[in-house]
Order: sequence, then C-alpha cells, then structure tokens
Amino acid sequence: MKSDPAVFELVSVKSGVQSLRCRTTGEVFHPVVGPMIEARILHVRQQRLIERAATVNGPFIIWDVGLGAAANAIAVIEAFEETDSRIELHSFDQTTEPLRFALEHASELGYLAPHLDKAAGLLTNQTRPGPLQWKLHVSDFRELIKSAPLPAPHAILYDPYSAGKNPGMWTLEHFENLRARLDEEVPCMLTNYTRSTAVRVTLLLAGFFVGHGEGVGEKDQTTVASNSTTLIDKPLNATWLNRVRFSTKGAPLRAGEKEGPIGEKDWTRLLEHPQFRAQNASA
Ligand SMILES: C[S@@+](CC[C@H](N)C(=O)[O-])C[C@H]1O[C@@H](n2cnc3c(N)ncnc32)[C@H](O)[C@@H]1O
Repeated sequence: MKSDPAVFELVSVKSGVQSLRCRTTGEVFHPVVGPMIEARILHVRQQRLIERAATVNGPFIIWDVGLGAAANAIAVIEAFEETDSRIELHSFDQTTEPLRFALEHASELGYLAPHLDKAAGLLTNQTRPGPLQWKLHVSDFRELIKSAPLPAPHAILYDPYSAGKNPGMWTLEHFENLRARLDEEVPCMLTNYTRSTAVRVTLLLAGFFVGHGEGVGEKDQTTVASNSTTLIDKPLNATWLNRVRFSTKGAPLRAGEKEGPIGEKDWTRLLEHPQFRAQNASA
C-alpha cells in the first residue's frame, strides 16, 4: 500500500540531510542535526546500549517508542552489528505510514537504504535469524502497555511528537502506566529530547528518577529518566527543584488540565520524592 503524500514530506534540516516532516503536527522528526546523528547521540550513546547489553544475561530489551521512520531503530541495529549481544528491539507505533513513506524515499533519506529488507520485513512481521530480533507493535502505545504481555525493558527510546502536539503521550497517568511496566530488578533508562520542566515534574511524580540528558543540535540539554539512580549521571538537584516552585509551568501534565504553576499537593509529593530526599539527607 502506498503512503499518503498528504501526511508526510521530506525537508532538509540545518546539517543538510533529509528528515520527515509531519504535515498534521508540523513537526520535523529529527530537526537540526538529522536522523542518525540525533539517534546516535541521544539514544545509542547516552543509553550506553552496547556496554549495558554486554553485561546482561538473556536478551537486552529495547523499547523504541514512536518507530516513525525508523531512524532510532536503525541506529540501534547498526550499533549492534559488530556484537553478539542478544537484543530484542520492540518498536511501537500507532501507524506504519511514516515508515512506508520513508521506505519510498529511502535513497533521499540515506540511512534506510542499506536496511530496506529488514524494514520492509518488519511491516510483514517476518522474523530473521540473528542475535537481534526486531518486532513491530502497531497500536496506541498508551493502551497497549496497560495489558500486553511484553518483556520489561532495559532501555526506552521515547520519541513521540512533542507534548504540545501529542499530549496523550506525556500525561502523568500514562507515565505511571509506563513506570509500572518496569521491573525493579531490571535497571531501565528512558531517553528523550525534551528539557521541559513540566515533563520532568511529570516523570518524577510518576516514580522515575530524572536527570539532565546530553545536549543535541540546538538543545543544550535533554532528559533522562530511570527506575534506578545508578543510570542517572546528572540527577536534577535542589537548585532545579527550587526553580520548579516558582516556574509558571511547573505543574505536572494531566489530561484536560492546562499548564501552570505547581499546586501545593504536587509540590509536597515532589519534595518527598526519593531523589530529593536522598540529596537533602546528604546536604
Ligand atoms: C517524531 S515521530 C518518531 C520518529 C522516529 N523515532 C524515527 O526515528 O524516525 C513520532 C512517532 O510517534 C508515533 N506516536 C504518537 N503517538 C503515539 C501513540 N499514542 N502510540 C504509538 N505511537 C505514537 C507517531 O505515529 C510517530 O510516528
């Protein structure tokens, strides 16, 4: 089936490479530095995927949330090409439209061209031999994680559209459901491009530890979250917390609620978060 040209188009980003733009949200998938550089910096390198996978018995589980045009997934696949680590790469999207569009424009995009067979096979659920198994789940991720039998992840590459354009993927309720899918015995890291205070507050209140992530493109920093402090190099600290108190956008994101300053109840819960309790105790 051909993709719908009304939904996606190719655009040149600042670095000169091509990326998809969704006409409905107006968002470019990988602005400024383009698909592969962003995927490698933000997700592959920052997650220390290769090193962490090498220490795990059994398969290392990666959730690629928002498969889109598969740049993050391809960056993972290429990173593991020279290793024999067993990887289960679970890609999630509610539509295959961006991948089909990307396959039709593989030569302009570049990164997909060497992987056409794998990406096309994904669409028909073909399994391929080898230590890396790639599976696609076409569904609303928010609903799927409520009950689907999925292995708990070691890594979540979290890449929906932004909170402004894709609010349902950023609510407290959704992040609580996501947090509930993690196994306390399995340290898991979530990487994402945002640096929004409201998103960080939401992740904290959902039970994640949250830190400053590496900068990429024109962003001086991004966000990492985890169920384990061991995976957070630069945790949000008391200085960051004090700013939340006075921020005009410090409230967690809840469905149907407007952004605004944090309320008393949420503020009290934030102060009690183990990330800050531990810092207060050692201060
Ligand atoms: C910015 S694109 C992802 C780019 C992609 N990671 C890549 O490397 O090309 C965002 C993707 O998230 C998907 N998405 C948004 N909301 C979703 C939901 N509720 N469930 C599943 N996928 C969702 C969109 O369909 C879209 O393909």
